[in-house]
Amino acid sequence: MKKAFIVLGLSLVIAACGGKKSGSESQADSTNAANKTAVATNSDAAQDTAASHIGTDKAGGTPSAPGAQLIAKSDCQTCHKEQEKLVGPAFVDVAKKYSSSPAAVDTLANKIIKGGSGNWGTVPMAPHAAISMDDARTMVKYILSLKK
Ligand code: HEC
Repeated sequence: MKKAFIVLGLSLVIAACGGKKSGSESQADSTNAANKTAVATNSDAAQDTAASHIGTDKAGGTPSAPGAQLIAKSDCQTCHKEQEKLVGPAFVDVAKKYSSSPAAVDTLANKIIKGGSGNWGTVPMAPHAAISMDDARTMVKYILSLKK
């Protein structure tokens, strides 16, 4: 009788645990599913805005930051490198020179679109009239993020 009681007790415990476990598992499953949908929607949105027109060259080590992608897709790298001066200043030097305030971001974004000279020497920065203010800001934010 005693033995039967223990067995019964044990199986109740097991049943209880089992019940709980499968319950939390199915909860976890549904959260995962929700997360996946959220992530999918987010990346779709990101592609619609920042990345839609920068092409599909995901292969070949395209940088993942949206600003870096925009820079890689434009002609910036004919005159700029991240770490060294080329025709224009190294992006790390630009990052050192300016704060990351919204005003500085706008100034530099305008410079990318309109071009200009005088801050680093007499060689002018080529204008990029086809780049939107949003994209230019994204590029600038990436450049300023190189600050050490
Ligand atoms: C034809 C060469 C050339 C190209 C192409 C070019 N730049 Fe420049 N860039 C320069 C030069 C030269 C300067 C320095 C201008 C100065 O002295 O004010 C400069 C300056 C800058 C600055 C600092 C501006 C300032 O006022 O301090 C940023 C930011 C910048 N470039 C970003 C870019 C980005 C982003 C691209 C691509 C969309 C790009 N550049 C393409 C030549 C170039």
